[in-house]
Amino acid sequence: MVPKLCVLWGLLAAGSLQAETGSSAWLRYAALDDVTVRQYRQSVPAEIAAVGDSILIQSASQELISGIRGMLGRTLRVEARLSGAAAIVLGTLATMRKSLPQFQLMGTLGEDGYWLKTIFVDGMRYTIVTAENDRGVLYGAFSLLRKIALGESVENLDEKQSPYAPVRWVNQWDNLDGSIERGYGGRSIFWENRLARADLTRVSAYGRMLASLGINGCAINNVNSDPRILAPEFIPEAVRIADAFRPWGVRVALAVDFGSPRNLGGLDTFDPLDPRVVAWWESKVDELYRAIPDLGGLVIKADSEGRVGPSAYGRTHADAANVVARALKPHGGLIFYRGFVYDHKMDWRNLKNDRARAACDNFVPLDGKFDDNVVIQIKNGPIDFQVREPASPLFGALEKTNQAIELQITQEYMGQARHLVYLVPMWKETLDFDMRATDGATSVKALVAGKVFHRPTGGFIGVANIGLDENWLANHLSQANLYGFGRLAWDPGLSSQRITDEWTQLTFGRDPKVLATVAGMQMRSWRVYENYTGPLGLQTLTAITGDHYGVSVEASERNGWGQWHRADEKGVGMDRTRATGTGFIGQFRRAVASTYESLGTCPEDLLVFFHHVPYTYKLRSGKTVIQYLYDSHYEGAAAVEEYAREWKSLAGRIDDRRYEEVLAQLEYQAGQAQVWRDAVSGWFSRTSGIADAQGRVGKYPGRFEAEAMNLEGYAAIDVTPWETASGGKAVECRASGCSASLRYDGPSGWYQLRVRYFDQNNGVSRFRLWIGNQLIDEWTAGDRLPTQKIDGSSSSRRTIAGIALRPGDQIRIEGMPNGGEVAALDYLEILPEIK
Ligand code: GCU
Repeated sequence: MVPKLCVLWGLLAAGSLQAETGSSAWLRYAALDDVTVRQYRQSVPAEIAAVGDSILIQSASQELISGIRGMLGRTLRVEARLSGAAAIVLGTLATMRKSLPQFQLMGTLGEDGYWLKTIFVDGMRYTIVTAENDRGVLYGAFSLLRKIALGESVENLDEKQSPYAPVRWVNQWDNLDGSIERGYGGRSIFWENRLARADLTRVSAYGRMLASLGINGCAINNVNSDPRILAPEFIPEAVRIADAFRPWGVRVALAVDFGSPRNLGGLDTFDPLDPRVVAWWESKVDELYRAIPDLGGLVIKADSEGRVGPSAYGRTHADAANVVARALKPHGGLIFYRGFVYDHKMDWRNLKNDRARAACDNFVPLDGKFDDNVVIQIKNGPIDFQVREPASPLFGALEKTNQAIELQITQEYMGQARHLVYLVPMWKETLDFDMRATDGATSVKALVAGKVFHRPTGGFIGVANIGLDENWLANHLSQANLYGFGRLAWDPGLSSQRITDEWTQLTFGRDPKVLATVAGMQMRSWRVYENYTGPLGLQTLTAITGDHYGVSVEASERNGWGQWHRADEKGVGMDRTRATGTGFIGQFRRAVASTYESLGTCPEDLLVFFHHVPYTYKLRSGKTVIQYLYDSHYEGAAAVEEYAREWKSLAGRIDDRRYEEVLAQLEYQAGQAQVWRDAVSGWFSRTSGIADAQGRVGKYPGRFEAEAMNLEGYAAIDVTPWETASGGKAVECRASGCSASLRYDGPSGWYQLRVRYFDQNNGVSRFRLWIGNQLIDEWTAGDRLPTQKIDGSSSSRRTIAGIALRPGDQIRIEGMPNGGEVAALDYLEILPEIK
């Protein structure tokens, strides 16, 4: 828990809960309670003086003024030089030493590091915010404000902080047309119609958020890069974005197409060893730096998922990276060369084939061949941002090459910001994992920061993909992932709990009940999500060849993409052992490999990632694998039902708008978790032929299939994949309106009705539910879901609580299609009301 100065919640509670959009994220600077304000007014000086006038120091000064005004209701008085009164003083160490020698500031700080120090001179209190460079001063200002927002004492400061690694960047997968690959928070803040947006206000606001976390770089376009990004007439567009970020110390980087010398430059080749190609990159990079002198560097995805690469000319990834690195070198730029290289047309019939091997197979032989300004950007796991993966063995294998870990903030395989999944605990597990690369401690975080093999650079990259949505990520609770990424990139030693507590208080205020509830939900959410989407190392059982969102157990199989789990009638899992499998385990250092190789020591969370086991294999608890799969799905779905109940206990403690938006998201998630539960457990039950010992799978009390109801206009259809609809079937309406009805014959009482329908994204159908002649409820299927199909991604649930039913009642659901959407229904559930 964060230390508190004072908590007086009774006084604050009611009254001032204005609707909030979420656009200020964790930088709300909401007014603190009266007692806390009084305390801070004693310790926070009334004046602010900046030494030096760089744009970053101006941002720092402005931020302090607005933050303190918001939280303490006082406007700092700006002085050009010290007036003799107590003051907050900002400036770099060098300038401070020169112009304010009386403060006697000694020592040094790391690049971007800062020092908050209280000094008394002639009885006056000075709160010093100093740093090695201007960017560090800005970070110090944010840190001071965060302390105040968290209620921490700022009376006697002496805190020096330096970032753990130099690279703390985000990547945005924004396309120049304004769409975002795997972005769920609206359209691009950077681009529209293949130009930079006319209004870049959101870019500045994003820069401020990034700076508040110490993030110092942002790649502003998709790794699947459009060559136009380097076109001479386009460069001014990137310049405008760099200008918007600059006051926040965020350097721009560009993702470039490796084929650019040919695809844009008009050469007949992009062979990295061809002198014309070498010259092309040199002159292009010079041109870029003339326009953006502080450009951070370039990002390249080559020979991966259809992108061109050096293999076209029989050249290596080192040849490819180095040709660009040498062009960047004189300008101090870095090239981030992605380690995400694999063959997506692998023969699935060959049991020795394994996509997980690809990164090491491609890059280990090249260790030592990359220039010093090349950074290999490696995804946390060997596959692709799945719900659970081991750390990529490449982290432990590269000794003479810079590396950075790529973490995904946008929740592609993690519920796409429609599901609450707090990723910090997962990231921590990877960052803290010891790769046993030497005799000493060699955690992933130390390796990527270059600390183990004394590399000149390295660090942390987060694929953020925020968008124009007011709350940036489409889900207020998902902001915790962006916050958490930044905090970990600065200091990976912070605990998940500490980061969650900070975020919750900054975002929702310091009400202890809100803190306990929200932080509790966040901390459980990864395990909960894993439980209903892919436990035991199955990976996320989602539509691999489609939207990566809804459930589809077999989508990973029998195709070249290599995300195989190899479940069949007898067992499940990829045999990746050295002894009998693909040998992937052998890519880890010996000590790690032997843990994974043996069934006796392999962590069970990754059991079927590494081993193929029969369904009857007993886990250490004594439970069989198949029963574990059933139980975890039921537990996961039940835990999500609980979220909404917990959230409701916060009514009145959170502003209405965010309260309602989060509640709607959690209720939707509960419906999705139920589809996942039924689909995955149903699929394994049918495939294995082994019944659920608890008798739940396939039996759904109170459920009435739509295809078995009295249908007018509606027609039954088979749903693909079958497990995503109850009984494998749904009904669709191809007329202007249809109905499905049934006669209720159960006991009289109070019930909850749940209608499962499909919300395709090619229309907005309407539904009405009647009991007899009484219209009970109506709703539209207008959610922003990623599919036109009737499947697990579009499956949605409408819950209607507090309904009195008597035997003989006619329940009728009417569907009115719209556009391509066919008002499809799966089933109705009539459940006794939950007390
Ligand atoms: C995932 C993602 C793609 C992305 C790729 C990458 O496979 O689905 O959209 O392009 O990762 O990281 O390059």
